[in-house]
Amino acid sequence: MGRRTAVLISGSGSNLQALIDTTAAPGSSAEIVLVVSNRADAFGLERARRAGIPASAIPHRGFSDRAGFDAAIDAALREAGVELVCLAGFMRLLTPGFVESWRDRMLNIHPSLLPAFRGADAHVQALAAGVRISGCTVHLVRPEMDTGPILLQGLVPVLPGDTVETLSRRTLEVEHVCYPRALELMVSGRVRVEAGRALVEGI
Ligand code: GRF
Repeated sequence: MGRRTAVLISGSGSNLQALIDTTAAPGSSAEIVLVVSNRADAFGLERARRAGIPASAIPHRGFSDRAGFDAAIDAALREAGVELVCLAGFMRLLTPGFVESWRDRMLNIHPSLLPAFRGADAHVQALAAGVRISGCTVHLVRPEMDTGPILLQGLVPVLPGDTVETLSRRTLEVEHVCYPRALELMVSGRVRVEAGRALVEGI
């Protein structure tokens, strides 16, 4: 039995799939016990159900404010005995109170080499800036969006003629390798946070 991990999603859930596949393999120190989406039509919910993982939609529209929505998410996580949370394409900003209560127990993946290109349109920004190398970042979550101690980064070349579609497709392939690796580093106790940075044993 691995560390009890939840994944929060809003959409396709291809990163969720990578986490499902790798944590199901022998030797994984993590176990995905819950998937929550703020959108009922997220395909990731279907991926979870196919894998036999409890999956629920908690639509944010059902709440009058962010705090109420976050409290409902928090209750679902605690009820399932969750120890660690992975944000994987979860498109809602979380309140500082929620983020602090999961401090150093909540990971996010972002499709750029942070601190460059924070926000929802990372690939648009990378292409506009003309960078030759882009990538992805897995980090611990802090209240400010796309900030927090960096666990792992993966590199992706930007090729001539790249569009948001081609760059995001190539980046996702690297994300699917990085996120499971970062989760395994976390759950196997190889990460220490010191002075706002993640010190990762063996890297
Ligand atoms: C990924 O690019 C991730 O980095 C970003 O949102 C996207 C989610 O894709 N935060 P998916 O739902 O995992 O396929």
